Amino acid sequence: MTYTRSNELQKKSHTLIPGGAHTYAKGDDQYPELAPGFLEKGKGCHVWDLDGNEFIEYGMGLRSVTLGHAYEPVVEAAYRQMQLGINFTRPSSIEVECAEEFLSFIDGAEMVKFAKNGSDVTTAAVKLARAYTGRDLVAICVDHPFFSVDDWFIGTTDMSAGIPQAVKDLTVKFHYNDIEEVQSLFAKYPNQIACLFMEVERLEPPKEGFLQQVKELCYVNGTLLIFDEIITGFRWHMGGAQKYHGIIPDLSTFGKAMGNGFSIAALCGKREIMELGGLQHDREKVFLLSTTFGAETHSLAATLATMKIYKTEPVIEHLYRQGDRLTKGINQSVQEHHLEENFGVLGKPCNLLYFTRDQNGQPSQPLRTLFLQEIIRRGVIAPSLVVSYSHTDEDIDHTLDAINEALYVYRKALDEGYETYLVGSSIKPAVRKYN
Ligand SMILES: Cc1ncc(COP(=O)(O)O)c(C=O)c1O
Repeated sequence: MTYTRSNELQKKSHTLIPGGAHTYAKGDDQYPELAPGFLEKGKGCHVWDLDGNEFIEYGMGLRSVTLGHAYEPVVEAAYRQMQLGINFTRPSSIEVECAEEFLSFIDGAEMVKFAKNGSDVTTAAVKLARAYTGRDLVAICVDHPFFSVDDWFIGTTDMSAGIPQAVKDLTVKFHYNDIEEVQSLFAKYPNQIACLFMEVERLEPPKEGFLQQVKELCYVNGTLLIFDEIITGFRWHMGGAQKYHGIIPDLSTFGKAMGNGFSIAALCGKREIMELGGLQHDREKVFLLSTTFGAETHSLAATLATMKIYKTEPVIEHLYRQGDRLTKGINQSVQEHHLEENFGVLGKPCNLLYFTRDQNGQPSQPLRTLFLQEIIRRGVIAPSLVVSYSHTDEDIDHTLDAINEALYVYRKALDEGYETYLVGSSIKPAVRKYN
């Protein structure tokens, strides 16, 4: 594979766009030197780069494309809607239709407001919780890596330049599955925590009773429980990970998988709280998610089409089945190359990640870079192993062959040093203090 055109455009992109890309996770520092710089076209789970190279893709639009790229029924629904106009001076009936359909998926959610990005809705959830409770502090689960591009969350990361200390001080942290720590947060900040903000589950499953205990502690302390379902929604289960675990939060946020890559996100929850952003109450009004593009009609049409496919076809079953096949095949290769301590998959089959560890069992970015380099060479681009409804058995078989060969090189790199095998420099964490 050659990347002549990509390489040329990469140079230009860095002179025009800080970081050369509009999303850090897609940036050049997240991929090996021998990787496509720009993806131009996709169909199903296959993508083509600027130089015409073809790849099987995983992760797909940062997990937003769950059905497949250019998925006909979704594209057609959006196109039909676009021909009617996409943004008017008053709402469109599709806003009500989409709200009703969305709420039919999420148990216990009585109202919803749509937006364009996950961060819009997570930040709105925090504001709503603060207004509802009259408290300032937000408690976030520190084991969950990303909640928002906004200051209340980014202020807690290594890349917090530009965020005042006063804002940072308003976010406190707890660890997943550590109920004592949650208890002590409530003891340390009595009547001060507006909400507990977390994913329902990430890599580590909840301990027996943990989620229920968190919910009870929130209730007793007058704190709202907010579940961020931006990754898990429409993937773990049609009703999200909250349905999977049978816990109804006060508010929850969705995005990514809802619209098969179209820009859509949702904040939903109990009427009593959500209505503070509405017209039917006499408390102080909350400015809740009012944006020019929040209800762009073609994104709502795409969302309706996506939800219909989830309802009528075995999308979620397919994600689990293909994730299972990947897990089994990779485990076999790992055994074959004696890499049990150094490489493996993590998470639910519908949302698989992988780890890369060095000889001492420590997480290794150079080895991750090398693994990516070797699978990309073999026609697979996989920052994660997150599958879509379009990943066929043949795609999975091809991927497993590519991974098996890549792990052969990985084994040699572990034994002889990765420097001999890696072309260019190692990737770095996307969110970091210095370059
Ligand atoms: C769990 C979670 N919450 C929120 C967000 C923010 O979503 P967005 O990038 O659409 O603003 C992300 C993005 O990756 C996420 O993974």
